[in-house]
Amino acid sequence: MDQYRVFGNPIKHSRSPFIHQSFAKATKQELNYQTQLAEPDGFSSAIAEFIVQGGKGANVTVPFKEQALEISDELSDRARLAGAVNTLSFENGKIYGDNTDGEGLVQDLLRNHVQLENSRILLLGAGGAAKGVILPLLAQNPVSIVIANRTTSKAEVLIEQFNDRKLNACGFEQASGAIFDVIINATSASLSGKIPTISTSIITENTVCYDMVYSKDLTPFLGWAKAQGAAKVIDGIGMLVGQSAESFNIWRGVKPEVETVIEQLKTSLAKE
Ligand code: ATR
Repeated sequence: MDQYRVFGNPIKHSRSPFIHQSFAKATKQELNYQTQLAEPDGFSSAIAEFIVQGGKGANVTVPFKEQALEISDELSDRARLAGAVNTLSFENGKIYGDNTDGEGLVQDLLRNHVQLENSRILLLGAGGAAKGVILPLLAQNPVSIVIANRTTSKAEVLIEQFNDRKLNACGFEQASGAIFDVIINATSASLSGKIPTISTSIITENTVCYDMVYSKDLTPFLGWAKAQGAAKVIDGIGMLVGQSAESFNIWRGVKPEVETVIEQLKTSLAKE
């Protein structure tokens, strides 16, 4: 049976095995997918060993996405521009690196009927999570993407790498005067219970707010956005399943349906 794994540290609570086994069942694909904990300095050797054992592909999560890029023989454009790889395929003695995070986000926004074409997007954050979604968002042909970061200079450095006139960089304060259709939180603030310090006036009854992270309850950012009267608030559970679906498609050539798995994950989260 074809073997796949997700490598990370920590990895125990990864939902990827559940997601991929569900996809496999639904699409009648025979495969096995497991988690593998890699030591901080043992990622590349763990991958090499998995390849020797006949592994077909792997997902890569924190903190190894940059290392996964380094060990790839060939890279997709979106992985190169993201500066990170979350999907490895092993074929003909070569390692192919791709990044499906941004496509996972885009697909989840579209699934939620959020219009991206001709829209004004505000992306909060300028770290790895933000960087990974810029190219797929640009591919949806928005009017503009403003990247606002607590440390303004980091947003400025980030947009220079893309060289696209639709991208603008600023600090949280400068972003607060403008109007946006979609606000995407790509900061890690929610993970420590914090909210990016953007002005409340930025949220109108037409604004859709998306948080790349998810939790049992509304994330701090989404709770705040809802209280300000946002049109719609969406968390990152669909992005997680969406990026998995895109990886599955790369490996198996079949695009699985995501809806059922998203619902199952939401139900199991609610019980935790
Ligand atoms: P990731 O890979 O999750 O993006 P990262 O590369 O460390 O992680 O980036 C974290 C991002 O979250 C950065 O944009 C960071 O802002 P700074 O560049 O100013 O550090 C942002 N961030 C983290 N905590 C934040 C907070 N409490 N408020 C606002 N932004 C925060």
